[in-house]
Amino acid sequence: MNQTPTAVRRSVIAGCGSALPQRVMTNADMSKVVDTTDEWIVERTGIHARHIANDSETTRTLGVEAARRALDHAGLTPDAVDLIILATSTPDQTFPATATLVQADLGITRGAAFDVQAVCSGFVYAMSVADAMIKSGQAECVLVIGSETFSRILDWTDRGTCVLFGDGAGAMVLKAETLPDSQESPGILVTRIRSDGRYHDKLYVDGGPSTTRTVGHLRMEGREVFKHAVVNIATIMDEAMKAANVAPKDVDWFVPHQANRRILEGTARKLGIREDRIVMTLDRHGNTSAASIPLAFDVAVRDGRIKRGDLVLFEAMGGGFTWGAILARF
Ligand code: UT7
Repeated sequence: MNQTPTAVRRSVIAGCGSALPQRVMTNADMSKVVDTTDEWIVERTGIHARHIANDSETTRTLGVEAARRALDHAGLTPDAVDLIILATSTPDQTFPATATLVQADLGITRGAAFDVQAVCSGFVYAMSVADAMIKSGQAECVLVIGSETFSRILDWTDRGTCVLFGDGAGAMVLKAETLPDSQESPGILVTRIRSDGRYHDKLYVDGGPSTTRTVGHLRMEGREVFKHAVVNIATIMDEAMKAANVAPKDVDWFVPHQANRRILEGTARKLGIREDRIVMTLDRHGNTSAASIPLAFDVAVRDGRIKRGDLVLFEAMGGGFTWGAILARF
């Protein structure tokens, strides 16, 4: 006997958008700043270039631009939005939250807006909070933004870190829809977030209002982060897929946080995900921290790779350590 699936409240990705600073800095440009080469950067990371914000481009302005494009893509106007969650580690000011600045620029005067801080995992954290707010009936239409200006917190004399990062923003609009409780229905299927603060000194910023009264600079033990990244990412993606009862072969697109080509290929191999199913934009964008997932997703949606109905797996790992994964049908 065929049973009609029950209806559930889902967070559907209604649209996406992104924004990049105008200035492109290539590896050749980078070799004029620190003792490095295009060969080293490409071989160790896969990065060829990154965008660097000028003084008038900030986390707020990039976030607003990405948000407007995501709303346009969804066919919505700002007045539809009742919650903004912005993931960043490079806010315009210590407070108020950059999300409230974006809210003001979009002319939204209802609902709420707040920032989420989970470094490179920020977008995955923000999406899981947005999904929980939608599922619990506290929000109908959420603008989830990842926006970063990491160039402002880099130590431009440290070749081990400054070559890796770039600036940019990405956004998604999540809308509540009541749909049949089936894996074939669009929307977020699983969210998983984790952290382990014992590893705080492997990737951190050496300043802050309460300690040094300064912003500080990014510090990283790259090799240590690399080692943990492959294990943590693979484990949490496996958990997310098992929770939804899907196999790696069922995943149409793997949209990872863009940190290092070798990490992405290593995890894909470990899980049996085909390399041509990985969306990789780090060659052009570098590591844009919380912005990297929505940026990569937007690129692949607009160039026609990711289509409506595709099953997409997002993952990230960053300072904290924090990490997480999301499985969604677009
Ligand atoms: O988004 C948050 C998560 N972050 C990550 O996932 C980053 C994870 N880590 C990595 O991606 C890699 O560890 C890096 C790309 C950061 C570094 O690659 P590595 O293969 O782990 O290199 P390493 O740090 O062990 O350094 C190897 C050598 C060193 O020289 P010696 O000591 O062997 O003589 C470094 O001094 O490469 C040298 N080096 C460089 N050489 C040229 C480090 N940075 C550079 C550079 N150009 N930019």
